[in-house]
Amino acid sequence: MTPLRRLTTDDLPRLQQFWIEHWGGEEMITRGNIYRPEGLDGFVVEDGNDWLGLLTYSIKDDECEVTSLDSLREGQGIGTKLLNAIIEEAQKQNCKRVFLITTNDNLHALGFYQKRGFELVTIYRNAINESRKRKPSIPLIGYNDIPLRDEIELEIKL
Ligand SMILES: CC(C)(COP(=O)(O)OP(=O)(O)OC[C@H]1O[C@@H](n2cnc3c(N)ncnc32)[C@H](O)[C@@H]1OP(=O)(O)O)[C@@H](O)C(=O)NCCC(=O)NCCS
Repeated sequence: MTPLRRLTTDDLPRLQQFWIEHWGGEEMITRGNIYRPEGLDGFVVEDGNDWLGLLTYSIKDDECEVTSLDSLREGQGIGTKLLNAIIEEAQKQNCKRVFLITTNDNLHALGFYQKRGFELVTIYRNAINESRKRKPSIPLIGYNDIPLRDEIELEIKL
């Protein structure tokens, strides 16, 4: 496995394809904000030409939002490695916090982030129902057979 590296503009077509495959389209909607791959920075973990993990983020003012995190080989430390990389990057850029949105069904992610120092901040009730109007590919039922409905914000203060 190669070490993690930053995404470059050359990665954009692949990033767009990755989002289509893993997130149902080229847009990510969090808290009513629409993110597209071309507006984001990110890190990737590779094995040769294969992407094993990907994190995208957006830094505005003194806040860093993780807009997507995916590991394609779970339980091998890839998600943790990507999360540590963005915390380090946010510290370098003098951010006051790193935050992210996950969804009410994603019990695994809620545990994963909390074990790594993130705290629950806000529940945006029914936010996914709103997002689904723009992005109909968002399923009605999510992980663990739970209705996919709310956004949950987690943060780690730096
Ligand atoms: C959440 C997610 C990113 C975690 O990625 P991951 O690569 O599995 O994360 P890690 O391997 O670093 O950690 C997962 C577990 O494996 C364990 N682990 C890490 N390295 C390991 C190793 N070498 N051997 C055995 N176990 C290991 C970790 O201890 C961790 O367990 P814990 O959370 O109980 O402490 C991944 O499950 C994922 O992509 N999910 C789908 C997309 C998603 O939900 N993204 C987040 C939405 S916001």
